[in-house]
Formats: sequence, structure tokens, C-alpha cells
Amino acid sequence: MEALGYYNGQIGLLKDMTVPMNDRAVYFGDGVYEAVLVKNRVIFSLEEHLNRFERSYKALRLNFPLTREELAAELYKVVDAMDTDATLLLYWQASRATAPRKHTFPEGAKANLMITLKPITLKDMKTFRHKLITWEDTRYLHCDIKTLNLIPSVMAAQAAEEKGCTEVVQHRGERVTEGAHSNIVIVKDGRLITAPLDNLILPGITRMHLLQLAKQCGIPYEERIFTLDELRAADEILVTSSSALCLRAEELDGAAVPQTAGAIVETLQEAYRQKFEKETDPALRK
Ligand code: PDD
Repeated sequence: MEALGYYNGQIGLLKDMTVPMNDRAVYFGDGVYEAVLVKNRVIFSLEEHLNRFERSYKALRLNFPLTREELAAELYKVVDAMDTDATLLLYWQASRATAPRKHTFPEGAKANLMITLKPITLKDMKTFRHKLITWEDTRYLHCDIKTLNLIPSVMAAQAAEEKGCTEVVQHRGERVTEGAHSNIVIVKDGRLITAPLDNLILPGITRMHLLQLAKQCGIPYEERIFTLDELRAADEILVTSSSALCLRAEELDGAAVPQTAGAIVETLQEAYRQKFEKETDPALRK
């Protein structure tokens, strides 16, 4: 099963696909993106991802030419071209236009759509444990918009890997923000605590699902600023993202995470697993 690529209507093997040098994603990272799981040829939580995508491209004032329904149809064209019920990672991005390099928006700009689809092996939520490092968050002040400008996240993720770790916990001074490519939730004394939705974090869809599931399971949660000291004193640290759902951590800056809220975490992970299975049931296939 080879990864597929799509660019403005053309589908092919990802390794053979190219984009024009004048695509503004190349020069400026001038675009926005989404990443989401697919199983049984059903795109998981598509509506939420379309909502965030629309919010992101409107924030950048992109002239995105497709309606929501048309975009969904293009995404499903690529999913159907893969022709498998396996678990896949679907990625799409819109860039502002193809035009010679000039900072201001080109006249009559129309956004480009790029899609990739590749097989993914989901980490086992029961057994996988993250090793985390803390990392000063040096990103800009629009982290709530899912843009292609990811250099600080790339540098942070690489630093983690070079230390034998799997993700970072970013912070601005004492305040914890989020991972390089995930949101961070801590558990303390039976409560979930996660950063509030503002311009310093991405409104993660997995984060939102986890809070919805906590509510359903009667687990209290707080969306509020929390500090590095609270992170270090947490019973559990959870890492949430669309490509891995909800994973626990065993280590933070080389120190063991207590992992003493196993019952709460396992309840949430099992609820999430059931939600994912239910919402990617083959009966829901388009
Ligand atoms: N990353 N915060 C950041 C900075 C992210 O890049 C992501 C997602 C998240 C989690 O958001 P969600 O639950 O909606 O995936 C939080 C994706 C998976 C990526 O960049 O590949």
C-alpha cells in the first residue's frame, strides 16, 4: 500500500508528485493544513476538521475555491483511490496561490489544494509511553491557527528525538502551552487540567474529544493556565493528537512521571477507542 498524493485534482503515488516552485507554500509557508485518521474508508471527525480548516484559511484570508462539500468529496476521492479498510493518515493543505515571489497577496489569488494519504500504525494506547522534555515555546502569537509555519515545532521535535524522547512540552516562562505537535493534559488529584483555548495553543480536536469524554464519564476537568511546577507534580501527563489519540507519558526531563491515575486514564482511553471504532464503522462509509 503506497502513499498517495493529490495536487489540484491530480492523484498519483506520493513519491512521484511535485508542486510548482511558485506555490506560495514553498516560499512563505503561506497556507494552512489539517491531519486526521481514516479507517474503513471513513474519515474520523471530518466535520470538526473541516470547521477548523475553514477557520484557519479565513484567518489567513485565503481564497479557497471549494465548498465544504466539494472539499469533502476531493478528500474521499483520495481515500477511495487507496481502496483499503486499513488505518490511514489523511493530510491536506491549502496554500494561497501559485505566483512569483512577492510578499503581498497576488492579484486574483486562488488557493491550491494538496492532499496526502499514507498507512499508519496506531500506537497502542494501553502500552505506549511518551518520554518528554520541556522546551521554551518560541513560536509566534497565532498558534491557534493551523498554518504551515512549523520551524519552531520542527526544532523542538528534533531536540526531543536527539535526547531519546518522543515529544516536547512547550512553555512560555512558567506557563505550559502544548507539545510540538500535540496538546498536553495533566491529571492531578482525579482532575484533568489543560491549557485554555487562546492564541497560544492550537484548539486540538483530540483535546476537545477528551474533554467531552471526561464529561460523559463524570471525570472533572479544568481549562486553565497551569505551570511547569504543576506539570512536574502531576500524577499523569497525557499527550493528545489526531494521529495518536491519547497517550500517557512515563518520563519528563529524565524524571519518572508517577502514573498514579491509571484508572482515570484507562477509562478515557477506552472511551476514546470506542468512539473511534463507532465513528469509523464501515456502515458509515460514503
Ligand atoms: N498535530 N498542537 C499542535 C501544535 C499540533 O500540531 C497538533 C496536531 C495538536 C493536536 O491537534 P489535533 O488533536 O486536532 O490533532 C496540538 C498534527 C497531528 C500534525 O501536525 O501532524
